[in-house]
Amino acid sequence: MATKADSLEDATITPASLREALGSFPTGVAVVTTLGDEGKPLGLTINSFNSVSLEPALVLWSLALSSPSIGAFRKHGAFAINILRKDQGQLCMKFARPADDKFEDINWSKGYKGVPVLKGAMVTLECETYQIVEGGDHEVYMGTVKRIHKTDSAPLVFHRGQLVQLASSALREEASFRLKNRPSKQRAT
Ligand SMILES: Cc1cc2nc3c(=O)[nH]c(=O)nc-3n(C[C@H](O)[C@H](O)[C@H](O)COP(=O)(O)O)c2cc1C
Repeated sequence: MATKADSLEDATITPASLREALGSFPTGVAVVTTLGDEGKPLGLTINSFNSVSLEPALVLWSLALSSPSIGAFRKHGAFAINILRKDQGQLCMKFARPADDKFEDINWSKGYKGVPVLKGAMVTLECETYQIVEGGDHEVYMGTVKRIHKTDSAPLVFHRGQLVQLASSALREEASFRLKNRPSKQRAT
């Protein structure tokens, strides 16, 4: 089936057109958390999370320079990536809006360096900040993974500006079979 093609170059690449192009790449959704002054729990929804290295264990995500939590992420030196389950859409939206106390009514506990670990997340990676790199209107945070909490639940997925779920488990199992059977040299993470 033919698909409509459209090309953009330099000057015509705007934040809106870039956001639209990047939105075609499906991602998981996470709430990244840290501790602010006087032990105040802070967090925001992200989909910029990705893997960097297996040995050492490094991950990354990026934070908008406009975030009111930026001072705390810079200062505290630790964060947790709470990867959301398929039925945590409301939690995703709650942490995607500025608010004074996003943790009201949220079930969480203190993890590595006191950083909030959200109860019920699909997977949580507790990290020590390894490096912060400038990245235009964002800062890129790389972290060393110190602790992992995992469940076998299914993830929430973000695609073309919408929260969606993975296709049927039958399709998932077939894809997972193909991935597991790749020669080990072709495997990334
Ligand atoms: C699916 C999704 C992914 C997002 N990813 C990021 C991200 O990677 N980095 C970021 O800084 N903001 C991201 N945002 C926007 C923040 O969640 C939003 O601006 C939030 O209000 C930030 O919280 P704060 O105002 O307390 O800093 C995302 C929002 C959504 C809905």
